[in-house]
Amino acid sequence: IGRTKIVDLLKRTDIGAMVNVKGWVRTRRGSKQVNFIALNDGSTINNLQVVVDLANFDEEMLKLITTGACISVNGEMVESVGSGQKVEVQAREIEVLGTCDNTYPLQKKGHSMEFLREIAHLRPRTNTFGAVFRIRHNMAIAIHKFFHDRGFFYFHTPIITASDCEGAGQMFQVTTMNLYDLKKDERGSISYEDDFFGKQASLTVSGQLEGELAATAMGSIYTFGPTFRAENSNTPRHLAEFWMIEPEVAFNDIIDNMDLAEEFIKYCVKWALDNCADDVKFLNDMFDKGLIERLQGVLNDDFVRLPYTDGIKILEDAVAKGHKFEFPVYWGVDLASEHERYLVEDHFKRPVILTDYPKEIKAFYMKQNEDGKTVRAMDVLFPKIGEIIGGSERESDYDKLMTRIEEMHIPMKDMWWYLDTRKFGTCPHSGFGLGFERLLLFVTGMANIRDVIPFPRTPRNADF
Ligand code: 4AD
Ligand code: MG
Repeated sequence: IGRTKIVDLLKRTDIGAMVNVKGWVRTRRGSKQVNFIALNDGSTINNLQVVVDLANFDEEMLKLITTGACISVNGEMVESVGSGQKVEVQAREIEVLGTCDNTYPLQKKGHSMEFLREIAHLRPRTNTFGAVFRIRHNMAIAIHKFFHDRGFFYFHTPIITASDCEGAGQMFQVTTMNLYDLKKDERGSISYEDDFFGKQASLTVSGQLEGELAATAMGSIYTFGPTFRAENSNTPRHLAEFWMIEPEVAFNDIIDNMDLAEEFIKYCVKWALDNCADDVKFLNDMFDKGLIERLQGVLNDDFVRLPYTDGIKILEDAVAKGHKFEFPVYWGVDLASEHERYLVEDHFKRPVILTDYPKEIKAFYMKQNEDGKTVRAMDVLFPKIGEIIGGSERESDYDKLMTRIEEMHIPMKDMWWYLDTRKFGTCPHSGFGLGFERLLLFVTGMANIRDVIPFPRTPRNADF
């Protein structure tokens, strides 16, 4: 008989059927006559209870069934009386596929998140990380389905690039030279001419610029891939390697862009509630009793849409009334996560889309407003997270874009191909970037972004 996954077995009702299951032992308890093995194969948060009449099995073999061991069980489907499941398996034959001694670090339950990060190679075996990574998978599927169903094309943008989309100088260099062989004072004058790409190349911070090329050819596209930022920020919301989803749509203005962002996030959240119910419920009960309520709340609320200038007024009012922020509030400031969260969690109590930011704090490609001071930017701000999406309508006017590029001293020679979109049949278009791990923080209720990606890359951490 072929193996049945536990997720499927627990839905079956054919009592008396013979089945084969394989998985890892979570716990084993019982009496001198009968033992109960909680078996998990990763297909679901739920364990299968395997009932073992000790008299029928070899004593030496039974000793090997310890926490963490991998076993294969042939047995009969029986009705379950007490385990919380409808069915369990009465073992007929057990084979130990892999033993596990008591140096296995996941013996006991209730390890701290910090400790589990140190054993990131084993943590998918815990209930918590099994749940998080199953949800991560389901969210990726939801994202592709959302865009595919709406006629968007999945467009692959390069990971190695020579342009700095966000102009923030946070790029990791890609080179075949060993820069560490150079003395510090020699590094400034490196010539990349003889290097692999013949010029300085880096890991991408965003696929947007190439995404715009695609949108102005194919209409509606999205990217979904890893992006890299060498920002030295050790926060619960920043990774050096994170995944981003970037839709880009020809003929969309900023309003269409906001509509798309709101519909997209709600679709993903609903998908999690509908398709990951067991895992979401586990995380809700285990860590964050408000999780399910918060997810449902987002589906019911219209997101607030508010210009940056009005947001600053609200924050200034809060300060006047005695609210203490760590960082100062004034028109022109790049909002800190405490400011974003005040607007969302304290003032409006629902997600907020902040628009029309000062041009000085936003990237060169954003469409400039008539006032000469602001750009058609939009950031979606979420409870517990702060910024979850950043986007804008794009500047489609060649001359205005050129002027901005010059003002901001962006190296022109690297940008000629991007400017061609504005030279040849330019069109209004808009897009945004959703940080995949920020979405996962919201959907799983995890507190630290290191706990929603299998192998987090942060300053001083590139292990496993
Ligand atoms: O606001 P950002 O920098 O926008 C862009 O990169 C645009 N090119 C997107 C576009 O319009 N196509 O980043 C977009 C989102 C942020 O809102 C945040 O969710 C996430 O990416 N993000 C990070 N997530 C984890 N770790 C980091 N270091 C992140 N930096 C940005
Ligand atoms: Mg941003």
